[in-house]
Amino acid sequence: MITLDSVTKVYADRGKHVTAVDGVSLTVDSGEIFGILGRSGAGKTTLLRCLNLLERPTSGTITVDGVELVSMSRRDLRTARQRIGTVFQHFNLMSSRTAAENIEFPLEVTGVGRAERRQRVTELLELVGLSDRGGNYPSELSGGQKQRVGIARALAGRPSVLLSDEATSALDPATTEQILDLFKQINEATGVTVVLITHEAEVVRRICDSAALMESGRFVEQGPLLQLVGDPDSRLAEILLPTGDHDLSIPGRHLTLAFADERAIEPSLSRLSRDLGVEVSILGGTLERVAGHQVGRLRVVYQPGQASDDAVIGYLRERGVTVTAA
Ligand SMILES: Nc1ncnc2c1ncn2[C@@H]1O[C@H](COP(=O)(O)OP(=O)(O)OP(=O)(O)O)[C@@H](O)[C@H]1O
Ligand SMILES: [Mg+2]
Repeated sequence: MITLDSVTKVYADRGKHVTAVDGVSLTVDSGEIFGILGRSGAGKTTLLRCLNLLERPTSGTITVDGVELVSMSRRDLRTARQRIGTVFQHFNLMSSRTAAENIEFPLEVTGVGRAERRQRVTELLELVGLSDRGGNYPSELSGGQKQRVGIARALAGRPSVLLSDEATSALDPATTEQILDLFKQINEATGVTVVLITHEAEVVRRICDSAALMESGRFVEQGPLLQLVGDPDSRLAEILLPTGDHDLSIPGRHLTLAFADERAIEPSLSRLSRDLGVEVSILGGTLERVAGHQVGRLRVVYQPGQASDDAVIGYLRERGVTVTAA
């Protein structure tokens, strides 16, 4: 488990103070995939560098697996850092070493014996689907393959936490999907806790269990995705499952519906017209797989007829749909 309590990082930049991370508190459960979504300059990389202690926070505490990292001595920190693996946007591979030798490097640094290193590298190459590429140099690998090497290297020391800073931003959409699925597969196979930092909604939608929205150094929202998408007022939900621009000039009553289970919605809308005699039209919205569930957010309009608004809203809520008047 990872716990951050009021983590702040202030940089002194040519006489000015820049607060890159501003009082972030966060809990990531063991085995979870947690996404941090934010625009450029939001403070994501700074937060990640605090998490792996490449950067000391100005204040606040960071606890990984029950060990508080900020107050540690330099030497203890070196050991504690081995519990955390990091994957980078631009791979950061050594060009003079083969894929296998890049993966082996952190094991050499920590003094693992040669035979054990070789065995571990073979396992890791297989885990990331590169068994036939170990002898290739980075210049002979595609972007997706390089990132597979980066992921294997991050996992070499069997960390309990895997951090990723925009690991897929340099990749095309199809390769992005493959790398995200690899993160998920590794998470399921090894139980490693994953924290992904990204500016792409797709990354969060595809594999995260929980997420936070970061702006100007702060978390403006965070929680389990299924909970967030069921909240019609959630900004993160609107980014992940946009309902689109809403034309309020269309006559009728306008509602935003959110549901964390697809089975809730189709029969509910069709039964609504049958049971209450109300015709509902869908104006826009998104149905997507999120955190392993088919979830959705819809804008709908209906003509109030014989049924009252309370009856319509109550009918949908009883069937697990969250409803707000748009
Ligand atoms: N070493 C530094 N010295 C001074 N200011 C810094 C330093 N590193 C980052 N900052 C500032 O902190 C803020 C957050 O930067 P950070 O790199 O964490 O954002 P980010 O969310 O990762 O952005 P991007 O998506 O572009 O990578 C920015 O205003 C940046 O200029
Ligand atoms: Mg960054």
